[in-house]
Parts: sequence; C-alpha cells; structure tokens
Amino acid sequence: MFSRVLKSTQLCYVFRSNFSTSSKVDVKVAVLGAAGGIGQPLSLLLKQSPLISHLALYDIAHTPGVAADLSHIETRPKVTGHLGSEQLAECVKGAALVLIPAGVPRKPGMTRDDLFNTNASIVANLIDACAKNCPKAMIGIITNPVNSTVPIAAEVLKKRGVFDEKRLFGVTTLDVVRSNTFIAEGKGLDVTKVNCPVIGGHSGITIVPVISQCTPAVSFPQEERIKLSVRIQNAGTEVVEAKAGAGSATLSMAYAANKFARDLLEAMNGTEGKVQCAFVRSDETEAKYFATPVLLGKNGVEKNLGIGHLLDYERNLVTAAMPELIANIKKGEEFVAKNF
Ligand code: NAI
Repeated sequence: MFSRVLKSTQLCYVFRSNFSTSSKVDVKVAVLGAAGGIGQPLSLLLKQSPLISHLALYDIAHTPGVAADLSHIETRPKVTGHLGSEQLAECVKGAALVLIPAGVPRKPGMTRDDLFNTNASIVANLIDACAKNCPKAMIGIITNPVNSTVPIAAEVLKKRGVFDEKRLFGVTTLDVVRSNTFIAEGKGLDVTKVNCPVIGGHSGITIVPVISQCTPAVSFPQEERIKLSVRIQNAGTEVVEAKAGAGSATLSMAYAANKFARDLLEAMNGTEGKVQCAFVRSDETEAKYFATPVLLGKNGVEKNLGIGHLLDYERNLVTAAMPELIANIKKGEEFVAKNF
C-alpha cells in the first residue's frame, strides 16, 4: 500500500517535470559590454535565471575570463565568451534578447550627452551586428545617452530593414528602482511593495517621476514632492560623485537591468501582466520616443499603457523635458543619417 502511494507520488512528479514548460524553452541572451562595470554583475544575475539556456558574453576585452568564471556556477545557462569584433556575430546569432551596456560611463562634471561622441558609434556598430544576425531579437539599450542611443538603434535597424518598434527598449528601470527606494525610505514603507512609474527620458530634467501614480498611494507636501523629484532626476549624479571618477552606477544598474530582463523573458514565455517602464517608440507626446509603463508580451511591447493622469506639477515637468528630449532624439537620428 505504502509503495503504491509512493509510486503514484513519483509518477505525479515525473508528469509535472516532463510537462513543466517554462524552464525548458531554449532562450539565448547576449550581453554586449559584458566585461564592464555593469556587464559583469548583470551577467552574474542573468546566470541565475532558469529562463535562459545560453548566456553569450561579448566585449572588446576580458570576456574569456568573465565567461570562464561564470561558467562554473551551478545554474542552467551555458556561458560562452566572445572577444573582439570578429566574434560579435557568433555572440548574437540566434539571441532572443540582447542587452547592451557597452560604452563609456560618466565622470564627475559630465552629462550623459557628453558620452555621445564615443557611445553613438559603439551602439550603432553593435546594433548593425544584431540586425544581421538576430533581426528578431528583443534589444535593451543601457548605454547612455539613452535618449539618443535608442533612436540611433532604431535608425540602424530601419536602414537594415528589420526595425520592429515593439522589440526595442531603452532600459530606464533604474529610475523606477530609485524612486521606489526613496519613496519607501521617506514614508517608512515596505520597499518590495512600492511601485512608482517614471516617464519621459533618461537624463536630468527629462526624467519625470510620477509620484501621484505610486502604489501604494503616497502624499507629500508640495515642497517635499519637488525635493524628491529632483533627487530622483539627479540620483545618477549622486553615484557618479560618490565614485569620484571611478564610474557611474553599476551594481544598482545591473539589478535594474536584470529586473527588466526577467519580466521581459517571462512575458516572452507567456506570463501575462508583466509591466515595466521603458523608453520606447511612442505617440504619447511630440517626442518620437518616450518612457511610459508598457505591458510586455511574447512579441515585446504588447500595449503602451500611456502617461495616465498627471498632477499640474508633473505635467509641468513633462513640458520642461520636451525640448531636451526632442533635441537628444534628433541628434541620434542625425548621427545615423550622416554616418551610416
Ligand atoms: P564600463 O566602462 O565599466 O564598461 C563598459 C564596457 O563596455 C567595458 O568592458 C568596455 O570594454 C566595453 N566596450 C567598450 N567599447 C565596446 C565595444 N565597441 N563593443 C563592446 N564592448 C565595448 O562602463 P559601465 O559603468 O558598465 O557603463 C556602461 C554604460 O551604461 C555607460 O554608457 C553608462 O553611462 C551606461 N549606464 C546606463 C544606465 C541606465 O540607467 N540606462 C545607468 C548607469 C550607466
């Protein structure tokens, strides 16, 4: 009797493991710039994902070592390292998701736009390889200035005839992560339950936290709301200054990018209801790209959830963001028109 019960339990286990789908789908994820300050911790976090079967790491330096190190971790993804431009195609071939943190970070006193001259061509060349080798991949751009590198990526993909606006994301998750942290600290809330959308772009005044749409609902006197919004807009600079020349946010950015990637991979795998803010092609404002909460699905952006209701103060922040955001976007588009 006991052995019969045991057998049926075992059978049940075999049945469940054979028919559990989520962890068995082959999914290749590529990280470009994988040996950098963001790339290494991001790759470590991705290596822990049961949704990934192959983690392919590309950089112009150090990827053999990073890949060898990560490959000893007892988790599902196989890890491969790819070094230098001649190994880029192999890295991205067949990738379902490509995350790009390649390029230089800020030093104290620099704006994100100051990175344009170096990072524009890095992103354009990496995207060109994606267009040729994984034209259907979801692409998450971390490299700054995101307000320009996303339009650059879109224009390169358009030139190659493979642009799908649902599959291209500027990763702005760190702005949401910071907002959640600061609001929870200020209000004494459980941070794991706080979610504050951040819209607009990803630099200074183009970052627009929508505290009035935070869940749970929080209220601040106007002066405190302004202070908090300004802190969120300048939070990246807080880290740049604290690191005093040694770079910008890397660990919190890796956390944020992993959070974004996890939700996107789950949505691609059929989980419904995954929402993340991201800088995407948008008709919400006169800026062609604009961050809003988006519902993720099997094909990327399932639905843009839009800006929603704003307080007058928040609407004024959006208005103030527009000239810089539109100029950043135009600069990215013109770069590709001139150079590609
Ligand atoms: P890092 O300098 O530590 O690492 C960058 C990596 O990119 C290096 O390993 C470098 O070898 C590699 N690289 C340079 N040229 C390359 C190329 N042509 N192909 C492939 N790899 C290349 O910089 P970190 O701190 O990792 O930052 C990376 C980027 O992410 C910066 O542009 C930074 O501004 C941006 N960033 C974005 C954030 C966001 O919220 N979206 C937040 C923080 C940083």
